[in-house]
Amino acid sequence: MDTIKQYIEKNKNRFITELIDLLKIPSISADPAFSQDVLNTADSIMKALKEAGCDKVELCETPGYPIIYGEKIIDPNLPTVLVYGHYDVQPADPLDLWDAPPFEPVIKKTELHPDGAIFARGACDDKGQMYMHVKALEYMTSEGNLPCNVKFMIEGEEEVGSESLAWFVPKNVEKLANDVILISDTGMIANDIPSITTGLRGLSYVEVEVTGPNRDLHSGLYGGAVANPINILSKMIASLHDENNHITIPGFYDKVENLSQEERNEMAKAPFSLESYKNALDIDDVYGEEGYTTNERNSIRPTLDVNGIWGGYTGEGAKTVIASKAYAKISMRLVPNQDWEEITTLFKSHFESIAPDSVKVKVTPHHGGQGYVTPIDSIGYQAASKAYQETFGVTPIPQRSGGSIPIVALFEKELKSKTILMGFGLNSDAIHSPNEHFGIWNYLKGIETIPYFYKYFSELHK
Ligand code: BES
Ligand code: MN
Ligand code: MN
Repeated sequence: MDTIKQYIEKNKNRFITELIDLLKIPSISADPAFSQDVLNTADSIMKALKEAGCDKVELCETPGYPIIYGEKIIDPNLPTVLVYGHYDVQPADPLDLWDAPPFEPVIKKTELHPDGAIFARGACDDKGQMYMHVKALEYMTSEGNLPCNVKFMIEGEEEVGSESLAWFVPKNVEKLANDVILISDTGMIANDIPSITTGLRGLSYVEVEVTGPNRDLHSGLYGGAVANPINILSKMIASLHDENNHITIPGFYDKVENLSQEERNEMAKAPFSLESYKNALDIDDVYGEEGYTTNERNSIRPTLDVNGIWGGYTGEGAKTVIASKAYAKISMRLVPNQDWEEITTLFKSHFESIAPDSVKVKVTPHHGGQGYVTPIDSIGYQAASKAYQETFGVTPIPQRSGGSIPIVALFEKELKSKTILMGFGLNSDAIHSPNEHFGIWNYLKGIETIPYFYKYFSELHK
């Protein structure tokens, strides 16, 4: 029988080729132009799960993109691990900022990935990380050492809010019954400093529209006499933070959980260099809420950010105009206990209340989700920790992430189980950005670590 290390050594070229083939399909869920590609990706996942040894694989139709479900039940008395991942990816634009086309994967070495990294949209988020689980399953089934039952649920709408999955999960509580949920869709601190994600932020995403006059106006004839929606929108947005970078929406912080100084001290022990952080982003200074460190600002504190703003003339040259309308897309990252629907309502009423009478304001909520925290004394966390110790040789650090996977809170509510977030990407892997990549070392390390999670989870479950 091969150990996982030997198995990887023998099969790694095939593992890489298979992932590259998956990355060639542009499964962009946000853009209907790619719907056939999203569907084709779902088919590929089905095939991969069958080949990896699932006994039953199903394409579950939903009002949106299908959910791929697969399982291998070896003994109903043994514990069950439910693996979740997503096969959809973010849009690839701006395309001209990619060094190679986003759906023609290339392998290149980087400073942090001396063994090479696969560059493609979805390489890290989440095709590469999801596929590690498929290959880990292949190892366990082909070597006959799968120690427990396994279920896979891979969706195609994570990047657009998981609406169909939120519809599917409550209807399939029995089918999805499990003892722990395992997800690789986050990151870790560094290749020699593994970490396990213990928290995710929630999200409220809104779009605002400010309307001034009923048509675009000559800025000389009307300028100064009527409200310019772009000026007004800018002022309104600026007023959403005070001089200490606190968010000014009344009630916004009411439910924010304040961590004890002890917990904050514990968090501060995670290795972090402000200098390299600034260098990597080419900024002279960081910026954020008064009284909190960089790592606190992007994990345990809520935020409000404009994600896009538009209106008026943005073409070549100059056009003297006062636009009739101005728009912005705004996201708020939330922390556990803040309810995203409540925050959306607070935002809406505040934003409407600060608008002067000279404009009309429309706030349209997009999607959202609750934050998540998971304890480190669960057997799931302990099993993950032991798995990393086995393959990295060090104890992983628990760390809260700033990103969101809104469906995780719903899993806990509906399926009553904890999620373990074993991410193998790095923050510098440029997810959602041009030149997204995933280290080959990280990909193979993930495949190597996952079977140990199964092993230790089954042992600790007894
Ligand atoms: N995998 C990410 C979330 C993530 C990345 C969490 C890294 C922690 C570390 C996921 O695909 C994602 O992009 N989520 C969105 C939210 C979603 C509703 C569009 C996000 O965080 O912006
Ligand atoms: Mn993801
Ligand atoms: Mn994503």
